[in-house]
Amino acid sequence: VYDQIYQVALPIPPVKQPKHIVTNPVTGKDIWYYEVDIKAFTQQVYPGKQPAQLVGYDGISPGPTFLIPRGTEIVVRFINNAAIENSVHLHGSPSRAPFDGWAEDVTLPGQYKDYYYPNFQSARLLWYHDHAMQHTAENAYFGQAGAYIVTDAAEDSLGLPSGYGTFDVPLILSSKIYNQDGTLQSTEGEDTSVWGDIIHVNGQPWPFLNVQPRKYRFRFLNSAISRSFALYFARSTALDAKLPFQVIATDSGLTQTPVTTSELLISIAERYEIVFDFTSYAGQSIDLRNLPEAGDVGADDDYANTDKVMRFVVSNTSVTDTSVVPASLRSVPFPPASTGIDHHFRFHRTDSEWRINGIGFSDVENRVLAKVPRGKVELWELENSSGGWSHPIHVHLVDFKVVSRTGRGVEPYEAAGLKDVVWLGKGETVVMEAHYAPWDGVYMFHCHNLIHEDQDMMAAFNVTTLEG
Ligand code: C2O
Ligand code: CU
Repeated sequence: VYDQIYQVALPIPPVKQPKHIVTNPVTGKDIWYYEVDIKAFTQQVYPGKQPAQLVGYDGISPGPTFLIPRGTEIVVRFINNAAIENSVHLHGSPSRAPFDGWAEDVTLPGQYKDYYYPNFQSARLLWYHDHAMQHTAENAYFGQAGAYIVTDAAEDSLGLPSGYGTFDVPLILSSKIYNQDGTLQSTEGEDTSVWGDIIHVNGQPWPFLNVQPRKYRFRFLNSAISRSFALYFARSTALDAKLPFQVIATDSGLTQTPVTTSELLISIAERYEIVFDFTSYAGQSIDLRNLPEAGDVGADDDYANTDKVMRFVVSNTSVTDTSVVPASLRSVPFPPASTGIDHHFRFHRTDSEWRINGIGFSDVENRVLAKVPRGKVELWELENSSGGWSHPIHVHLVDFKVVSRTGRGVEPYEAAGLKDVVWLGKGETVVMEAHYAPWDGVYMFHCHNLIHEDQDMMAAFNVTTLEG
């Protein structure tokens, strides 16, 4: 039993610094060059037991956070000093296909690969994680995941709570299960889900964070491999009274306007950013909680403490808070409304195999399920006919609008911005709309329950200007 709940401070992943900056001789613009060492490390999770043996970017997990001003081109050399092959995907970036972490484009132990990222997107929280063929779940679970933040002047001028690690804090969620001896249990051999009984934030089980009575921006990323969360805040002394907060960003950056809610559903790989105002809770503690049976988490998959996430301890000092949450955040570039479904994809489980329209990613001949003319706006219909499972569906390259969802409908906070993952609940059908640009290329789309992904619930689409 892990008994240090709310006793260890929330770790903040360090900011990654460029190794050097070179000037592009043609554009005259700077290119920031980074090196990341993928290597083994240990983490003492259970006091008095063995440490967990992990592998992470720069030997930490989550990996270091990239903080990149919009428009800054960067090159990152990911050096594989681990014992297993890897492929790095910058999730949410419209990277050119050779730098997108294609599952079979693996870097072997002892090799490195240089990845180029253009960063022309508006401000948002992306994340980088492993994507190696059939090893994604194990590699991400054992530590290969980190945050990547693009900033821009338009967002900076809004006056939102700011300062990485002070009033703008990443909260990277995960859920894991450990062996009796304190080491992390392997995911190999699992073919449905690994829920985990230990909730981590920024790598630390059930941490606490000392805060001031003022507004904070929290950037949620669910980096778990199978567990979805239904988050809410409450006073430690009144756990059933959910407190309101404002959602200000989705996967693809700021929403049009802030959306006030008291509950936030976040499936795997989704990001939501919120502002929570601790002003009226000076001297109290506020808990971040998780509702039971979130999404396809069954009653059997909830454990003694999976209803808890972390605690905020609010100081009693009075502070001046000049930050604001403007009533209008930005004009979101939603794709122009179109009609007629261009592609229909069915996510199902047949003969114990996870499939999309009957195909798995290892079916090399048939796995390109759609050809999309570059520049076209398309409506894709995603149907979940796999029984009691939900599937967070991620489409590489694009930002999309969630047009409709049967079942629970589209949440107001997910309709307020653009997304790159959509939670396809049990028995639901979702329609999503995206502008397939700016590059030609073959890109992946898949379920982000990484056990399902590794078990082949992944396919590809080809964005092309070629005829025929
Ligand atoms: Cu977050 Cu294809 O991945
Ligand atoms: Cu799935």
